[in-house]
Amino acid sequence: MDQNFVARAAETAGMDAIVAQGIKASGHRGIFDPAGHDDALGIFALTRLLVRRCRIPVIAAGGIMDGAGIAAALAQEAVAAQMGTAFILCPETDADEAYRKALAGPAAFHTCMTDLISGRPARCLQNRFASLSDSVGIPQVPDYPIAYDAGKAFNKAARNCGESGFGAYRAGQGAPLVRAMPVGQLIDRLKAELHRARYLKT
Ligand SMILES: Cc1cc2nc3c(=O)[nH]c(=O)nc-3n(C[C@H](O)[C@H](O)[C@H](O)COP(=O)(O)O)c2cc1C
Repeated sequence: MDQNFVARAAETAGMDAIVAQGIKASGHRGIFDPAGHDDALGIFALTRLLVRRCRIPVIAAGGIMDGAGIAAALAQEAVAAQMGTAFILCPETDADEAYRKALAGPAAFHTCMTDLISGRPARCLQNRFASLSDSVGIPQVPDYPIAYDAGKAFNKAARNCGESGFGAYRAGQGAPLVRAMPVGQLIDRLKAELHRARYLKT
């Protein structure tokens, strides 16, 4: 399935906009067939391909962590940037302490794709959970919600034993740039950075 097909399918289905989520993004890949080929496009190639082919607005996502990243997405003619990882350390999220600690430390530099979370590929921090396939060998991960529920139960049991390395900590490749501050403050910071990035360009 190529980007022409995706663009046409989204338009035909009457979508108002399409999110171009590149391979660096946290969370699940936007794919329909996990057994199909994934070209694993980065945010800019994907955004430009969709902008060229779509009549509906394109929103860029994946690895955008600050105003300079938003400015870069807008420069690719995306109408907006979608951000996830950048907000995880805001006190308003329900991320637990172990997730926050991992994301705020050196672990943030290492993310990986795994299908252990749900049976479908998703990007998360490279921890003991994400390494389970290598360490114990899992021939086939059961579909959602079996793997998802089992993973949560497994993490809970591990946490009860004082082990916090089995959380499915979703994170994009921009994770080391994450900032811990209230959402409102972060939005203000992003606005100021975006303004500065655009001002410096002219
Ligand atoms: C903790 C977390 C949970 C997410 N859950 C979902 C989800 O359930 N469905 C979805 O389409 N995207 C989900 N995403 C992906 C975001 O919608 C967004 O596209 C992505 O975070 C952008 O990449 P970034 O994290 O590098 O900014 C999630 C992201 C994070 C960080």
